[in-house]
Amino acid sequence: MRLIQFALLAAVLGLTLTACDRGESGKRASDQPGTELPDRQEAIPSPDADSGLPKIQPRPFTEIPDSAFGEKIKRGYQLFVNSQELRGKYVGNALNCVNCHMDAGRRADAAPLWAAYFAYPAYRKKNDKVNSFAERIQGCFTYSANGAPPPADSAEMIALSAYAYWLAMGGLMNHFGIDGAVPEVSDEDLITGAKREDFPLPDAIATALPVEQRDKLPGRGYPKLEKPARDFSPDNGKEVFAKHCMACHGPDGQGYEAAGIYNLPPLWGKDSYNWGAGMHRVNTAAAFIHANMPLGKGIQLTPQQAWDVAAYINAQERPQDPRLADFDGDVQRLKERYHQHPGFYGQKIDGKILGENAYPDFQQMHKRN
Ligand code: HEC
Ligand code: HEC
Repeated sequence: MRLIQFALLAAVLGLTLTACDRGESGKRASDQPGTELPDRQEAIPSPDADSGLPKIQPRPFTEIPDSAFGEKIKRGYQLFVNSQELRGKYVGNALNCVNCHMDAGRRADAAPLWAAYFAYPAYRKKNDKVNSFAERIQGCFTYSANGAPPPADSAEMIALSAYAYWLAMGGLMNHFGIDGAVPEVSDEDLITGAKREDFPLPDAIATALPVEQRDKLPGRGYPKLEKPARDFSPDNGKEVFAKHCMACHGPDGQGYEAAGIYNLPPLWGKDSYNWGAGMHRVNTAAAFIHANMPLGKGIQLTPQQAWDVAAYINAQERPQDPRLADFDGDVQRLKERYHQHPGFYGQKIDGKILGENAYPDFQQMHKRN
């Protein structure tokens, strides 16, 4: 009976996904039969902190200009910290970008926006194409926010890109002693990103930061975390969770909300990131957690504790990996194609195969679009 239901669900999933998912060009994927939803959640290398490249400190928000360009920057900030404004349109869970990219995307070692902005466009072997900054953000909408990404040329995407550009550029200008407002650039330049020869930059910055160095700003991604002494274990992680996390994220990992807003975000379940998100990988979550959690007390856990608790939160059911549609609902085939990394998708935990009871809110959301 269960199997039949699952097959039905998979069929619905396949239909709704191909009908509604927007492809790279903003066209619907149904215009391009067989288009796979690519992996834009690959792990980001953590650059060498002593590389001699500038350590960026973004400018204070009071320096955002009072202009049409400044309005885009402010709008990007708003969407980043309160992504729930886009709930049901582009966001399908209870998370905000800022929940993982902390301090409004400004904190080093929490995948800061300023480092990301100079790392795109980037060629990726996996899908054999160049990904723009907007396309990378679309990855986080699809997986981390379990949604349907805004088109690359949408006002929302331009605003988020303008905010990231302003954080990066203001910080770099201060570092190189360049006065004045951050120069305005076109919407087209904004959504592409600054890792290219023809991106408009002051000469001093273009010379000091050659294109091949731009994705290596210290503080990008999460700091490398040493491997655990013994294999990571969800069971051991449960104890770490009870002691160090539960007070804020709740006994069942669902966080806490007031008036519909989660001030303490859910770590698993239907309102958290989905099975395709970078954070579901145990190594990525361990690195994030070790550097940033418990909130305000980062680098308190031992590496082993960080790996174990990352395993615990990622050995729980969460929203489905949207790429399942490309595999006719076959969890094992999807696992083989996209889950060759430390994680629990498709594995049996407590007698259940993870992924087989994943939450279907994602599809419902796509049906509405
Ligand atoms: C559940 C946590 C989570 C949420 C929510 C989230 N992200 Fe991410 N984001 C990640 C992770 C994890 C990575 C990849 C880090 C890695 O693999 O090392 C990432 C990477 C990125 C990158 C590329 C960073 C780089 O240096 O290349 C950008 C840009 C980005 N996210 C923007 C966003 C935006 C915009 C939102 C909101 C729509 C968002 N993210 C929501 C976890 C999240
Ligand atoms: C003092 C409260 C507090 C404690 C304790 C705490 N967190 Fe968090 N956690 C937060 C808050 C608040 C955020 C969102 C950060 C933001 O929006 O700036 C967050 C975000 C996260 C995220 C990313 C967002 C998401 O929902 O997936 C993960 C993963 C996470 N915490 C894991 C942990 C783990 C594991 C522990 C225990 C080792 C822990 N946290 C302890 C408050 C806390």
